[in-house]
Amino acid sequence: MRFDILTIFPDLLASPLTEGIIRRAIQDGKVEIAIHNIRDFAADKHAMTDDRPFGGGEGMVMKPEPLAATVQHVREQVPGGKVVLLSPQGRTYDQALAQELASEPRLILVCGRYEGVDERFRDHYVDLEVSIGDYILTGGELAALVLVDSIIRLLPGVLGCADSAANDTFSRGGLKYPQYTRPRVFEGDEVPEVLCSGDHAAVSEWRLLAAVRQTLNRRPELLATMAFNSQEEKLLKKHGLLDAVRERQRGARSE
Ligand code: ADE
Repeated sequence: MRFDILTIFPDLLASPLTEGIIRRAIQDGKVEIAIHNIRDFAADKHAMTDDRPFGGGEGMVMKPEPLAATVQHVREQVPGGKVVLLSPQGRTYDQALAQELASEPRLILVCGRYEGVDERFRDHYVDLEVSIGDYILTGGELAALVLVDSIIRLLPGVLGCADSAANDTFSRGGLKYPQYTRPRVFEGDEVPEVLCSGDHAAVSEWRLLAAVRQTLNRRPELLATMAFNSQEEKLLKKHGLLDAVRERQRGARSE
């Protein structure tokens, strides 16, 4: 998969892409990331990428021409690619959108800045606008990194263990079960016995129940999208969780 990231602060993006799983994915040829400085495509001699808003008001607005010229440049190098603008006005990012975007061969990520981006760039070039949450960053760069990181780990063969993305929090709609490692006793607190038993079926059951309890306690609204097979439902019933889960799911449907 290829990412082209358009920014006026290329240095902000460089180092997170040179560490850990992202670095390995690039080295293995599974991912290609190119960073483009929008300033290089500003036509005037001061390399202006922003200007005052028509109608007055606070702040500066990103000019449409340098943004358009940068998109045209990256498309001349490699044709195609969905243009994604990072902005607080976008669709709220979640695991489902990460999965959707991970099936694209290429994404062109545009990092907005200042008070916003000229609406005509949006209208003419942007396929999808994405927000990483209901808070305001100083620009789209950190948001672009969030997308890149969460998408890369979903690409086939990027994570060491084939099913580790499948077991993620959110991958089946709820939170993940708690995890433990050595030592078996920490500050007097012991790892649950079943996890050390070597009984894989018992471990799976414990994990399903723990995940459901965790979701009920912390993010009950997520239960609405969790699906259980009949064996799992039996297990939830045996442990007195099925009614609470069903109640949550019914509540979410009628909201
Ligand atoms: N730019 C500023 N705030 C943002 C947010 N929450 N998500 C994406 N891009 C942004």
